[in-house]
Amino acid sequence: MKIAIIGSTGQLGTDLTKVFQDKHEVIGLTHQDIEIKDFNSCLVLKEHHPNIIINTAAFHKTDRCEEEPVETFSVNAVGARNIATISKEIEATTIFISTDYVFDGIKNEPYTEDDLANPINTYGISKLAGELYTKQNRKHYIIRLASLFGAAGASGKGGNFVETMITKTKKNETLRVVDDMWMSPTYTKDAATTIEKIVKLKLPFGIYHSTNQGYCTWFQFAKEIFRLLRLNPVLTPTQTSQMKMKAQRPRFSALRSIKLVKYGLQMREWREALCDYLVEKGHIRDNSFTITEY
Ligand SMILES: NC(=O)c1ccc[n+]([C@@H]2O[C@H](COP(=O)([O-])OP(=O)(O)OC[C@H]3O[C@@H](n4cnc5c(N)ncnc54)[C@H](OP(=O)(O)O)[C@@H]3O)[C@@H](O)[C@H]2O)c1
Repeated sequence: MKIAIIGSTGQLGTDLTKVFQDKHEVIGLTHQDIEIKDFNSCLVLKEHHPNIIINTAAFHKTDRCEEEPVETFSVNAVGARNIATISKEIEATTIFISTDYVFDGIKNEPYTEDDLANPINTYGISKLAGELYTKQNRKHYIIRLASLFGAAGASGKGGNFVETMITKTKKNETLRVVDDMWMSPTYTKDAATTIEKIVKLKLPFGIYHSTNQGYCTWFQFAKEIFRLLRLNPVLTPTQTSQMKMKAQRPRFSALRSIKLVKYGLQMREWREALCDYLVEKGHIRDNSFTITEY
């Protein structure tokens, strides 16, 4: 099959490209090749005529989204609409990458594909709009991910949480991390592998939650990073209310997948994935680890 990957040099796009190019013809599209806000620019997809279009592009700096709602909606919603429209015209399947931030965080246990989305910030609202536009093409997969860490680092954010923690420690900077916001850390390599399997197995179209299993607070995530690195920096738990953030964030946005379990594609535990990530990045050599209890 011919697979077009939009945002192919991004954090997720890089791993998707690696996973798909072993088995398929991959058309990697960078931001230089396509501007998804602009329908005319998206016409480049017609020239390639792919069977599947994976849209990883997003405006995802959550706080900036509050200040720039027009740009946010242009990329995350109108962009998704453009891709869905063209996919439909060329009878391609659309894969839209979405987020745990479509939920409000008041459930207090992991959200499944059956839960009702109710975003509480501009980023989440725009991604939910992107999901709805994507559904205009019957042949669609909406893949909800969360708190990504991948070797390429997020181009929009300049890295990821793991690398930020490591860099700050090297610079002896103070580490204050929120301990009242829960999420499911997810390795982009695992998410990309799962997306490829969903396609390969021709699973029914619809929404899939594709995060590593389990959840933790950002503080617990940081603690596990340093445990695996065998480092012991001064790490202070803090509360969301003490951080000056423009966007309100869901307090509990962990995801769980009913569908991946049903189809035997359940992803591994986040700590195991984190360990492999640290090996991939060359931060540690050994990927044997022990799971700590929280
Ligand atoms: N990162 C997370 O923690 C997280 C969590 C949940 C869901 N997600 C979702 O996962 C997806 C991938 O995230 P990621 O971390 O891989 O992001 P990323 O590293 O920033 O990758 C996004 C890619 O899309 C490109 N792009 C951005 N705006 C574009 C536009 N208007 N037109 C065309 N290309 C554009 C970027 O190019 P430039 O950098 O050159 O602009 C980049 O290559 C996004 O849809 C995001 O909403 C991310």
